[in-house]
Amino acid sequence: MAAFSGRFPATRLRRTRATQWSRRLVAETRLGPNDLIWPVFITAGDADQPIESMPDVSRFCLASIADQARMAADLGIPVIALFPNTPTALRSDDGGEALNPKNLVCQAIRSIKKAVPEIGIMADVALDPYTSHGQDGLVDRHGTVMNDATIDVLIRQAVVQANAGCDIIAPSDMMDGRVEAIRAALDQAGHQSVQIMAYGAKYASAYYGPFRDAVGSGGLLKGDKKTYQMDPANSDEALREVALDIAEGADSVIIKPGMPYLDIISRVRQSFNIPIFAYQVSGEYAMLQAAARAGALDLDAAMLEALLAFRRAGADGIISYFAPRAARLLNGSSA
Ligand code: PBG
Repeated sequence: MAAFSGRFPATRLRRTRATQWSRRLVAETRLGPNDLIWPVFITAGDADQPIESMPDVSRFCLASIADQARMAADLGIPVIALFPNTPTALRSDDGGEALNPKNLVCQAIRSIKKAVPEIGIMADVALDPYTSHGQDGLVDRHGTVMNDATIDVLIRQAVVQANAGCDIIAPSDMMDGRVEAIRAALDQAGHQSVQIMAYGAKYASAYYGPFRDAVGSGGLLKGDKKTYQMDPANSDEALREVALDIAEGADSVIIKPGMPYLDIISRVRQSFNIPIFAYQVSGEYAMLQAAARAGALDLDAAMLEALLAFRRAGADGIISYFAPRAARLLNGSSA
């Protein structure tokens, strides 16, 4: 066998990689259950319903939502985010059901608050689960989503949800100026300590398809959301969006989708000191599940790698449909 003939390298990066204990010691990024937010769908039906485009994800009925929240809290997940599948008969042009204090989301909030007071509850502010046209806001007769008229409804939706016990209001509508208006409305209603987690940079993305199935807005939506959600071509504009949300009083911001937008997370992290959350959206979830089911990759390994990558890019936490599965693995048990 020929001897190694070069100089001995002084630095060998393989040295700290050589053993599991050493890799643990020098890991720059950590991922734990505390970093996860679990988005769940709610149905008005009396049984849980599987969602075809999202394997292992169901819409939970009101009778089971508190048990699900209990399970999440016991796994160490700090926050659960609620998304309603509003019955078609209750959807309308103006999304009025969003303001009903007894709507699905409000009932779910109350039931979770009562049974699992220690978990944080988050709910979106946007009209798409309630409108008959599937847009996030009110539309004029040309089909254009109206900014300021929509905000007048969103601030009432935020207060209705906070009255029900919601801890974090997450405006996902992308109207200009909504964070400031929602903050003022919450404060006036006595909800000074309710947080706002603003969808800061939310892109008009093809990766939301399975979510729209899950909330039942997909079949209703005509056209797209490009006049309010961001153009995937833009990154400087994301910094302007986030700067506005912070100036208007956001407590934290969301970047969405996740994996195709790691550069945005990284830029926002470098520019601002505010908690940042990545939303690993429904299409990302479906892709990983589909690849695993096709035998192309190991689901648990690929899932944990994707979640860790969000943390490395600069996210404080991740909104993920995998949250309970990931938390179980991170807590040391099998999924
Ligand atoms: C609605 C909303 C969407 C998502 C979260 N809130 C869809 C959309 O904007 O059309 C997508 C989440 C996902 O795909 O997992 N305002």
